[in-house]
Amino acid sequence: MLLRCGWELTVEAKADISAREQWSSRTAFVLAAVGATVGIGNIWRFPYLVGEYGGAAFILVYLGCLAVFGLPLMIAEVAIGRRSRLNPVHGFRYLATETSGSPAWLLAGLMGIVATLCILPLYSVVAGWTMAYLVRTASGILVGVTGDGARSIFNALISDPEKLFGWHTLFIVSLTLVAARGVRQGLERAVRVLVPGLFLILLSLLAYSWGGDALQRALDFMLAADFEAVTMAGMLAAMSQAFFTLSLGMGALMIYGSYLPGDASIIRSTASVVLIDTLMAIMAVLAVFPIVFSSGLSVAEGPGLVFQTLPVAFGRMGGGMILGSAFFLLLLFAAWSSGLSLMEPAVAWLVESGVLGRGWAAVVVGLIVWLLGIGVVMSFSAWSFEFTFADEVRTGGLFDVLDILSASILLPLGGLAVALFAGRTLSRKLMAEEIGGGEGLGFWVWYGLIKYVVPVGVVVILLRAVGGI
Ligand code: PFF
Repeated sequence: MLLRCGWELTVEAKADISAREQWSSRTAFVLAAVGATVGIGNIWRFPYLVGEYGGAAFILVYLGCLAVFGLPLMIAEVAIGRRSRLNPVHGFRYLATETSGSPAWLLAGLMGIVATLCILPLYSVVAGWTMAYLVRTASGILVGVTGDGARSIFNALISDPEKLFGWHTLFIVSLTLVAARGVRQGLERAVRVLVPGLFLILLSLLAYSWGGDALQRALDFMLAADFEAVTMAGMLAAMSQAFFTLSLGMGALMIYGSYLPGDASIIRSTASVVLIDTLMAIMAVLAVFPIVFSSGLSVAEGPGLVFQTLPVAFGRMGGGMILGSAFFLLLLFAAWSSGLSLMEPAVAWLVESGVLGRGWAAVVVGLIVWLLGIGVVMSFSAWSFEFTFADEVRTGGLFDVLDILSASILLPLGGLAVALFAGRTLSRKLMAEEIGGGEGLGFWVWYGLIKYVVPVGVVVILLRAVGGI
């Protein structure tokens, strides 16, 4: 037993844990981090936000948020992870005490783990919808479906707990099996298949969409920079999307960074991840929009875009069964590789606390998420309830509670913690050493952003989320 209550870490325990597994190479880290970042956020959320908030104008604001907030925070998270070579809870505590900061910093790691446990059940249930739609498109049920038909099929699915329960269970069991096998045998092997798979499916969808003249309409829509549509709400949506898509503030990249080989460049690795994540999101838009336009439908339908508008488009087009199946498989792969990264912080924490072995740790985390997921499964049927948050009435029960708690509150709070820790608690020298490349201009730009700009931006998101501004 390395330590008893999960907080304290003896020198021997730290040395023992530090000899733990690592990714086999920098490329393996990039693949895993791309798997973590490219998710439902890229394939579902990003296209509908672009549709809703004015095409290129929204994309420009979003790119700005990635550069000013996203990349600096990702560098910080990965650097903290690699410096500590520990899970987020012990990692924050260890580095804080090493630099005479407060041991209470472990709460930041704990908050990240709570956030992952809130988001994973949502992810699992949406992955369940995706699996259900994969079966539906592949079996031809959606051929010729009308808008009303698609809406009632979707509503019937989300209010059918038995079906959702089955899909949710399957998703969690598959994540648990991979997590139980460890970093190289489990996570790395999975992402080596999933991430190239994601890329190939997306490329084939693009190739198909680009065949018709609808591409021109999609490009016209995207490139007509409608700056009026990017309201304050749009700018904040761009900022939260930058956080969500890069999986920041939850310890997921911290734990992945803690497995990064010591000689790999953090700047190059994280810049590749941000670039690929952005590319995949834009590719998703360029694949989805022409499909929607070619059926004469609108891309500004909000969250219904993927599960209500796209099925109608697939149902109307030749080859829609194959195309639709490929699309939902893409979404499933994306959800799966992100789901793995959401489990890892909690699993690693249990293992490194000396409480459980890897297999049992994965089972316990899987079980917690599965139980929470049951509440989410029932959110649109028997256990639905209504509440008001930041002046908005929500009807999605536990689904909405977990969504607000994680995406709007815990995620920005986690980002704030990382920015304050990297920019203020840890010394500049230590960060420069870990990031590498010395204290050149690039480092100073990063340092200025993480110390001053990122905290302000995150506080704005937080205040907005709770209805404070
Ligand atoms: N980045 C993922 C997406 O865009 O869907 C979501 C996510 C995964 C957020 C993992 C946080 C995380 F730790």
